[in-house]
Amino acid sequence: MSDQHWWALGVLAAVAAGLWAWRRWHYRSFWLVVGFPIVAITVRASWRKVALGCGLTKKRQRFWFTTVPGLVSSTGVIRVKRRFQRIAVDTKPFMWLPLPTRHGWRVTLHTLEGQIPGDYADVAERLAHSWGVHAVRVSSDKPGRVRLAATMRDPLVTVDQLPASTELLKVTVGRLETGGPWVVDFKTVPHWLNAGATQSGKSNLANALIVGLAPQPVALVGFDLKGGVEFTPYAPRLSALATSRAECGGLLDDLVALMTDRMGVCRMAGARNIWQLPPTLRPVPVVVLVDELAELYLMADKSEKDEIAKTSTALLRVAQLGRAFGIYLFCCGQRIGSDLGPGVTALRAQCSGRICHRVNDPETATMTLGDLDPAALDSARAIAAETPGVAIVASQDGQWYRARSFYVSEAAAEYAAHAYAGLAPAWADVMAAQPHELPDSQTA
Ligand SMILES: Nc1ncnc2c1ncn2[C@@H]1O[C@H](COP(=O)(O)OP(=O)(O)O)[C@@H](O)[C@H]1O
Ligand SMILES: [Mg+2]
Repeated sequence: MSDQHWWALGVLAAVAAGLWAWRRWHYRSFWLVVGFPIVAITVRASWRKVALGCGLTKKRQRFWFTTVPGLVSSTGVIRVKRRFQRIAVDTKPFMWLPLPTRHGWRVTLHTLEGQIPGDYADVAERLAHSWGVHAVRVSSDKPGRVRLAATMRDPLVTVDQLPASTELLKVTVGRLETGGPWVVDFKTVPHWLNAGATQSGKSNLANALIVGLAPQPVALVGFDLKGGVEFTPYAPRLSALATSRAECGGLLDDLVALMTDRMGVCRMAGARNIWQLPPTLRPVPVVVLVDELAELYLMADKSEKDEIAKTSTALLRVAQLGRAFGIYLFCCGQRIGSDLGPGVTALRAQCSGRICHRVNDPETATMTLGDLDPAALDSARAIAAETPGVAIVASQDGQWYRARSFYVSEAAAEYAAHAYAGLAPAWADVMAAQPHELPDSQTA
């Protein structure tokens, strides 16, 4: 080989090594400068074939310069002749230029006549395989437009921490598949259901909430019918903790009484909820964490029936009216189904925040996520045991997301509970804090 060849080979090898190193050490800039343009061009170039393969095209009549079929002359020779004529062609949905995102790319399409975003959602898996990406998610922010978001790799395999939220009652607990923060915001979504099999990451999420809420001026209350093993270590920051059925009943009665008191205060001040009260009158918000919700409803024998009915009604009342009076629920459980009793279905209806970790059976996913898009249910069932903390989340914006909570060890939550123990208002003070008449400045 001549020197020139050696040179060329050397340069090629150096370029390849450079690209590899770039990709390895600064994937984000590599993706934007090299990876994404190549992907964008391929996606645009192959769109007709992909759309056809996924059944997203429509037949349209077009004038086309093409061969005339059936032109056989009397001699038997086929004469090929082209001319303009109307024929049926497959048209693909119009595709805008793809745009890069943190974990892949997104592109907007114009739907063809008769198509709905659901048609695209139905073939999302086909699209993902055609493009060789991890997943394609479909959304639509405008009639006639569909946005496809492709993620190249599962972004939830490792999630890095985000800065803690500084807003009251708002905790950043993890990251969404889109790269955005997964926020539990009790002021927007007051009550949450958190379902999942054992070892799926439910308690981890409760830990994240404790770490996030501990430094805030809120009262935390725990219901732990696993004998207190989950929440007792966090007791210093909890204003109240119930670990037996009797204690749960008592604490729920307290919560209902608290709500009634706060109702009185709001009525007196002409406010619809505690946030409309003047800051001097505003009571401290209470976040109620319930671990193993089913235990509250499980009946060992008939004698417990009345007690359970009472508990169930009290919990439901808290859920129905708590929002306005600053009492928020976060209920964790392995199964949150109607088989637990009639109260559960009503409670579920009040909880608009839904989190479904890995579950053992499809019914639990359906029960937790309700009648969301079937793709959400499929996604929930596909959560692998190797990735605890991954969950399907549905909340305020009506969309569902795959998300993963940050890993928050029990030790971290325990540390936060001790560090901020001084901020825990005593339960007696929370109960007694309701003024029974307005201060002079308010009555004037
Ligand atoms: N987001 C996460 N990232 C990494 N590991 C996690 C995450 N969530 C949970 N885990 C791991 O999974 C295990 C089980 O989680 P846990 O919250 O105790 O599940 P559950 O309460 O549903 O039984 C924990 O020991 C923890 O190490
Ligand atoms: Mg647990």
